[in-house]
Amino acid sequence: MKIAIASDHGGFDLKEKILTYLKAQNISVDDLGTHSTDSVDYPDYAHKMAHYILNKKADLGILICGTGVGISIAANRHKGIRAALIYNNFVAEMAKKHNNANILVFGGRTMPFEDVISYINTFLNTSFEGGRHQTRLNKIETEE
Ligand code: RB5
Repeated sequence: MKIAIASDHGGFDLKEKILTYLKAQNISVDDLGTHSTDSVDYPDYAHKMAHYILNKKADLGILICGTGVGISIAANRHKGIRAALIYNNFVAEMAKKHNNANILVFGGRTMPFEDVISYINTFLNTSFEGGRHQTRLNKIETEE
């Protein structure tokens, strides 16, 4: 399991904490930036992550901006990306079970670190159910 993580300046502090946590769990993580709290544009990191996931350089992406909203919108412009803004453990479970999300999104200015770690672990410990949910995921990709 390889995870990639990226944020804008609004998500930088949370990104650093998640990165430290995942490394301590011996999970392989690629840090796609940003690397400071200097102001940057969140779409740049959303697009970088989307290409990283679509090119299979990581199994799962984590994206963070101030609220998680802008970076979700940008990532979901990419066909094949299912970026889920996670805000509780039920949503984390369903984002895997029903949506098979390939990017998890968090808000650096809206979510406590401990909660986010709990959401990540819930997602990682859940399996995609497939079946009718795969049919629905296919329909996401075929709608023009
Ligand atoms: C940056 O100030 C902020 O707009 C961004 O992090 C994010 O919250 C956008 O949705």
